[in-house]
Amino acid sequence: MALRNSRTTFGAVAKFLHWIMAALILSNYVFEQFMHRLAISPLKWLFYDLHKSVGLTVLLLWALRLAWRSFSPAPASPSTLPAVQRTIARASHVLLYVCMLVMPVSGFIGSKAGGFAASWFGIVEMPDLFGKNDAINFWAEAVHTFTAYGLLALVCVHASAALHHHFVRRDAVMARMLPGTISRNGWVPDEPVRR
Ligand code: HEM
Ligand code: HEM
Repeated sequence: MALRNSRTTFGAVAKFLHWIMAALILSNYVFEQFMHRLAISPLKWLFYDLHKSVGLTVLLLWALRLAWRSFSPAPASPSTLPAVQRTIARASHVLLYVCMLVMPVSGFIGSKAGGFAASWFGIVEMPDLFGKNDAINFWAEAVHTFTAYGLLALVCVHASAALHHHFVRRDAVMARMLPGTISRNGWVPDEPVRR
């Protein structure tokens, strides 16, 4: 599998970044449940630290992913898709990228403005930008919560659309984001998948 994206399919780097980021983001929703629900204890703080560290990892990968994307542009949507669907897909991907940035940044700002520490796995301590500030803390937390629900809804639609393409329309949209699919089923780029 090529590292770079081709004209019609995602390469190994884009696939790896897509799936690792999806796993980290979804894990953070689970960690948040633990940090929210556990009684005050060292375990609760451990989940806070884990949530913040995983979130900051997402921020780092986000920057790498966009840098890689500008070096190796994403393939165009298959020409079998109507123009309106291609536009919706593109717009939803832009929104996903925006949410993937807003989540860690608002979480980091909210934590710092609330007077709490935020570090990356205890290795890199995030800088104090403005000290404790209740107004910034309030708005950053509001943005964090609002975007969290928005992102979750968007991901549900996004994943449903991908599964619909794969199992109902049986086209190449999902196949080109899956590891190794193309060599496995002999898919001819830009044509419906032969399965
Ligand atoms: C991909 C990144 C992230 C995701 C998906 C995520 C998701 C969430 C969710 C779903 C909540 C619960 C919101 C609510 O019900 O009010 C939450 C709360 C929280 N997040 Fe994140 N988060 C991310 C990154 C971060 C980062 C980087 C930090 C800090 C450095 C952070 C700090 C917090 C804190 C402190 C809370 C609790 C706020 C409170 O006590 O009300 N998050 N996060
Ligand atoms: C937190 C979860 C997820 C996020 C944030 C996310 C985000 C994204 C983004 C931004 C793209 C566009 C890539 C680009 O053009 O650079 C993309 C593509 C894609 N995603 Fe996800 N995704 C998530 C989960 C999923 C899941 C669960 C599935 C499948 C069940 C999925 C299937 C796909 C597919 C098939 C594509 C390629 C679409 C195409 O061929 O144009 N994603 N995703």
